[in-house]
Amino acid sequence: MIKKGIILAGGTGSRMSPLTKSVNKQLLPLYDKPLIFYPLSVLMLAGIRNILIIVNKGQLAQFKKILPEKNNLGIKIQYKEQLKPNGLPEAFIIGEKFIDKDNVALILGDNFFYGQSLTKTLKKSVSIKNGAKVFLHPVKNPNLYGVASINKKNKVIKIVEKPKKEFSNLAVTGLYFFDNKVVKFSKTLKPSKRKELEIVDLLNKYKRAKKLKAEFIGRGGTWLDTGNIKDYYDASNYISVIENRQGLKIACIEEIAFKNKWINNNNIKEAIKFYGNCEYSSYLKKLV
Ligand code: DAU
Repeated sequence: MIKKGIILAGGTGSRMSPLTKSVNKQLLPLYDKPLIFYPLSVLMLAGIRNILIIVNKGQLAQFKKILPEKNNLGIKIQYKEQLKPNGLPEAFIIGEKFIDKDNVALILGDNFFYGQSLTKTLKKSVSIKNGAKVFLHPVKNPNLYGVASINKKNKVIKIVEKPKKEFSNLAVTGLYFFDNKVVKFSKTLKPSKRKELEIVDLLNKYKRAKKLKAEFIGRGGTWLDTGNIKDYYDASNYISVIENRQGLKIACIEEIAFKNKWINNNNIKEAIKFYGNCEYSSYLKKLV
C-alpha cells in the first residue's frame, strides 16, 4: 500500500521563460489555481496524506505561503530543496529519509490528470506491494516524452526517453509508483549525456527485473502537457471549459480533503479566511 508521495516541483522552467524567471513554474496559474494544486490533488485522490514537496533552492518560502506545512487539508506536507535540476530520480535520494522503509509515489509538479475513472485507477494502483508502475497515455507526438510498449499482461517490454524512432504511441506520464527499492536503485544511477539522472534508466532497472507494470489513462481520461506556453494555455482553457460548464472545480484540494473526511466544516472556514474574498472561496462556501 502506498501512503507516501513526492511532488517534484523544481526544474528551470526554461521552456516557459520569461514567465519562469522569477516565479517557479509550479506556482504559475493554471486557469484559477496554482499549477501545483493539480498534481497534489492527484495524490490526495489516491488517498495519500503524507507528502514531500521538492522545490528549487531558495524557493521554500514561496511554496510555504500557498501550501503551508500546517494546513487545512488534513495532510502532512514536508519540504526539501533540490540544489540543481539533476534529474527526476534525484527525488528518491533527496527523499530517502522521508521514504524510510515504505513504498512511494512520485508525481511531477507540472502534470495534469483528469477523468471519470481516474480516482478508481489511482485507488487500485496504490495497493502495489513490489515492483513499479507507470501510467501510460496515447499521444500524437510520443517523441516528446518517455515512451513505452507493453505485452499482453501489461508488463512494459520497452521504454525509451524521447525516442527518435517511433515504436509506440504510449507516453509515460509523470506519475510513478515504486516499491522501497527505488532509493537503492536511484543511488546506483549514473548521469546521462545531458548530465541528469534519467527516470527511464531507473524504470529500466525494474523492467529488467520483470517488475515494471503499466496502468492506463485511457481515451476517456485526460493527461495534458504544460511543457511549453501553448500547451500551458491549452490546458488552462480546458479547465476553464469544464469548470464553467459544470460549476464544479477540478483540483479544489479542500473539496477533496472534505469528501475524503480528512477535514471538517471548520477547516473549510479557515481555508476561506486564508484565501480571502475570491471566487475560489465562494466555491468553498458552497461546500459547508
Ligand atoms: O511529463 C512527463 C514526462 O516528464 C515523461 O514522459 C518523461 O519521461 C520525463 O523525463 C519527463 O520529461 P520532461 O522533459 O517533461 O521533464 P522536465 O525536465 O521538463 O521535468 C518535468 C518536471 O519535473 C518539471 O515540473 C520540473 C521538474 N524537475 C525536473 C528535473 C529534471 C525537477 O523538479 N527537478 C529536476 O531535476
